[in-house]
Amino acid sequence: MRLLILSRNGGLYSTRSLYLAARRRNHFVRVIDHMLCDIVIENDHHNVFYEGQAMDGYDAIIPRIGHTVTKQGAAVVLQFETIGLSTSLSSEALLRTRDKMTCLQILSSKGIPIPKTIQVNNFIDVQFMHRKIDFFPKILKLQSGTHGAGVLKVDDEKTLESLIETFGNLRQRAIIQEYVKESSGQDIRAFVVDGEVVASMLRTAQKGEFRSNLHRGGKGQSVMLSDRERQIAIDASRFLGLKVAGVDMLRSNRGPLVIEVNASPGLEGIETYTQVDVAKKIIQYVERANRQQ
Ligand SMILES: Nc1ncnc2c1ncn2[C@@H]1O[C@H](COP(=O)(O)OP(=O)(O)O)[C@@H](O)[C@H]1O
Ligand SMILES: [Mg+2]
Repeated sequence: MRLLILSRNGGLYSTRSLYLAARRRNHFVRVIDHMLCDIVIENDHHNVFYEGQAMDGYDAIIPRIGHTVTKQGAAVVLQFETIGLSTSLSSEALLRTRDKMTCLQILSSKGIPIPKTIQVNNFIDVQFMHRKIDFFPKILKLQSGTHGAGVLKVDDEKTLESLIETFGNLRQRAIIQEYVKESSGQDIRAFVVDGEVVASMLRTAQKGEFRSNLHRGGKGQSVMLSDRERQIAIDASRFLGLKVAGVDMLRSNRGPLVIEVNASPGLEGIETYTQVDVAKKIIQYVERANRQQ
């Protein structure tokens, strides 16, 4: 196959890992920066140009689109879809999953368990939020944050009020969530490829921190999932239309709760801690999808 990896930086671990896995399986592969892709639309001709060159003759793309450039990245993915390339991440699923609330709305409407969550639209009526989640601490999240940035634990009413006011003034959309205390600084990342959990790790936050993100100093270890956790991860990915996904869950007293699903999950942590060649699994899936096209 002739593959394109869309990535801003060929030196990133995930990009390199996918590149090398594709090469090992004898594919021609090129890394291009989606932010430098020109999209040309004419009535009878659509294409993507990179460094002035038409991206003709490729079979599939593997998008690695960061949070800061979702919209531009999705436009490039859509254009490749239009000209008939298969993609490991559809533009539609990318857009749908980048907003935490949209993601949780879809999941919970399909019966996937999530923590109790409120989208803060009325920044004035703080009392309403207290009535809906009537215990502290509460979790306050920026709707489009990542790597644990913009996720706060709030211990009292006064702080919550002033944070909500600040977010409101900054016109930042936020969600409030019940704090799942018993997960005690741990969460599970289930890595799903084509309807199968190919690797999973338990992440533990560093001392004094409740966020278990590896970017916040959290540490991972390989973990066996329960059947229910595995099924939830597979279903969550399917409901969101993701073939490659990182599904994050908290282990609560009432079972697993999905907190977010990542459409461009990093490979470094999961490959390092589980020793699974996740990149190879992704390339194998791309091969299958291409055969079916
Ligand atoms: N409701 C919650 N209860 C307890 N811990 C949480 C909750 N939500 C998030 N966390 C912790 O904070 C981390 C970051 O939250 P998350 O929603 O995944 O945001 P991000 O997209 O920034 O990673 C999670 O990995 C988890 O350890
Ligand atoms: Mg997360």
